[in-house]
Amino acid sequence: MSWWQHAVVYQVYIRSFADGNGDGVGDIAGLTARLPYLADLGVDALWINPWYPSPMADAGYDVADYCGIEPDYGTLEQAQEFLAAAHHAGLKVILDIVPNHTSEAHRWFAAALADAPGARERYHFRPGRGPDGSQPPNGWQSVFGGPAWSRVADGSWYLHLFAPAQPDLNWEHPQVRAEFERVLRFWFDRGVDGFRIDVAHGLVKAPGLPDQAPEADAEGDPAMLDGAAHPAWDQDGVHAIYRGWRAVAGEYLPERVFIAEAWVADNDRLARYLRPDELHTAFQFDFLRAPWRASSLRAVLDDAMAAAAGVGAPPTWVLSNHDVTRTVTRYARSQPPHLVGADWERRRWAQEQADHELGRRRARACALLQLALPGTAYIYQGEELGLEEVEELPDEARQDPTFVQSGFADVGRDGCRVPLPWSGHAAPYGFSPAPVATWLPQPPHWGAHSVAAQRDDPESFLALYRAALASRREHWLAAGALQWLPSPPDVLAFSRGDLQCWVNTSDHPVSLPSSSKVLLSSTTGALGSATGESTALPADSAVWLCRSSRRHAAES
Ligand code: GLC
Repeated sequence: MSWWQHAVVYQVYIRSFADGNGDGVGDIAGLTARLPYLADLGVDALWINPWYPSPMADAGYDVADYCGIEPDYGTLEQAQEFLAAAHHAGLKVILDIVPNHTSEAHRWFAAALADAPGARERYHFRPGRGPDGSQPPNGWQSVFGGPAWSRVADGSWYLHLFAPAQPDLNWEHPQVRAEFERVLRFWFDRGVDGFRIDVAHGLVKAPGLPDQAPEADAEGDPAMLDGAAHPAWDQDGVHAIYRGWRAVAGEYLPERVFIAEAWVADNDRLARYLRPDELHTAFQFDFLRAPWRASSLRAVLDDAMAAAAGVGAPPTWVLSNHDVTRTVTRYARSQPPHLVGADWERRRWAQEQADHELGRRRARACALLQLALPGTAYIYQGEELGLEEVEELPDEARQDPTFVQSGFADVGRDGCRVPLPWSGHAAPYGFSPAPVATWLPQPPHWGAHSVAAQRDDPESFLALYRAALASRREHWLAAGALQWLPSPPDVLAFSRGDLQCWVNTSDHPVSLPSSSKVLLSSTTGALGSATGESTALPADSAVWLCRSSRRHAAES
C-alpha cells in the first residue's frame, strides 16, 4: 500500500498554528519549530493551507503569486528549509492549490483591469444586462453572499464565485491550463509530496454561463457546501484538467498525490474525480455533515466506502476543517435527524446553549471511529486538543468575508480559526513568543486546553489522539475489510479482522462482548460494569476491542 492510501494527515492552518516572529500571526518559523510536536503526535503528513503572497481578502485563498511565500509567513528559503525538516522528521507535506480563482492582486488580473490585449480572456468578463448594462450578466450568487459579479471602471462585469477580490479564472484558456501545470512542477521540484485542490469541482463552468433552471434554486445561490446542482459546479469538463494533472504527478518518483475538495451532489459524482487516471483521494464531507446518530453515521460510511471501492480509491475521512464548525461544538447541541449543511451550526448556534463537555465526549468517541476506518484520515489542528468553536468572537474581530457578504446573517468561519494554545494561562498561550494581540483573539479559558496542560495528563484529548494514532499504526493498518456486527439500536459496531470498534451514540450504557480485551477507550476513567460479567460502554463513547489474546494497551 502507498502512504497516501492509509495516511493520517494533519491540517496546518498556518496563520493560527504557531507564531515564530512575534507578530501575532502564525508563520513558517513557528511551524518548523513545532515539527517535533507533530512527529510525536504520530501523524504521517501535513496539509498546509495557502502560504502564498496574498492580500488576505479570504485568508490566503486569494493568491497573488502561486510560486512565492506570503511575507507574513516567511520566505521561499524558509519554506524549503521547512520541507527538508518535515521530511527529516518523517512527515510528507501537502500544499493547497487554488486554481478556481486568483487574487485581484495577481499580475493577470492587474493586466485584465488595465484591459491589456487578451488579458480579460483569462477570466470571465462579460457585459452587463439591461439597457445600460447595469445588471449582472447572470443571476449567480457568490458562495459568501451577494451577486457573483462585480463591475469594473469601464462598465464590464467579472465573475467571482467567492469574494470580489477572488476573480474566477477561465479554464477554457490554454494559458490558464499551462500555468497551473507549471505551478505544480515548481513545487513538486522542491519536494512537495502533493496538493489539496481548492474548490476542485468549480473550475469549469457550463458553456455560456447560463442561469440555472428556475426550479433549482429560486435565489440563484450556488450553495456550494450543500452540493446542490448548479451550472458553476461539477461540470464534466473538469475531469480532463485532472487527467493532465495526474500525468504531471506521475512524472515524479515517488508519485505526487492529490486530494480534492469537491462539494458535489453525491458520492457517485465524487467517485468520478477518483477514477484511476484522475485524482488520488477526495474528502468525504458527509462525515462532517452527519449528526451524532449511529444510523446516520452508518449510512454515510457505507455509501462513502462503496463509492470509493467502485473506483479503487481509499475513502478519506474528515471531521472538521477551517471552513466548518469545530466537532466539539457541532456535537454539543441536540442532533438533527438528517445530514446538515456545512454552515448549519453557524446559523442556529445562538438558539441553543452548547454543552461542550457533552460535545467533547462525543468528539473523543468519533475520533476513535474515524481512526478505525479503512482509508485515510484528516485531523484539523486543534481537534487533537478538543478545542471548541469560538462562537463569542466580537464582531469587530471577525475577518471572514462571509460575515460582511452575508449581510451579517452568517458569522463566518473565524470561530474555528483562532490561534492554537500551546502553554500558559493567559493569551497568547505560547502561540507567540511574547505577549501580543493575536490576529484573532483567543478565549480566556484556553489555558486548560493548551498542549502543555494536556501533555502529561493520560486522560487528556491529546493523550487519546496520541494513543489512538500509535494503536492505529500498530493494529488497524493491516486489519482488513470492515464488517458490521449486530448491535443494539443507536450503537455502531464493526470488526476488521481481530479488531472491533464499538460506538455508543445512545444515552445509556450498552454491554460489550465479554470475550474481548479493551485496546483503547474514549472514556476518561474506567469503563463501568454492566449487569453480570460484561463491561459496559457508557453513552457517547467508543472503544477499540481485540478479540484475540493480543496484549492490550489500556485495559481499564
Ligand atoms: C475553499 C476553502 C475556503 C475558501 C474557498 C475559496 O472552500 O476551503 O476556505 O474560502 O475555497 O477559495
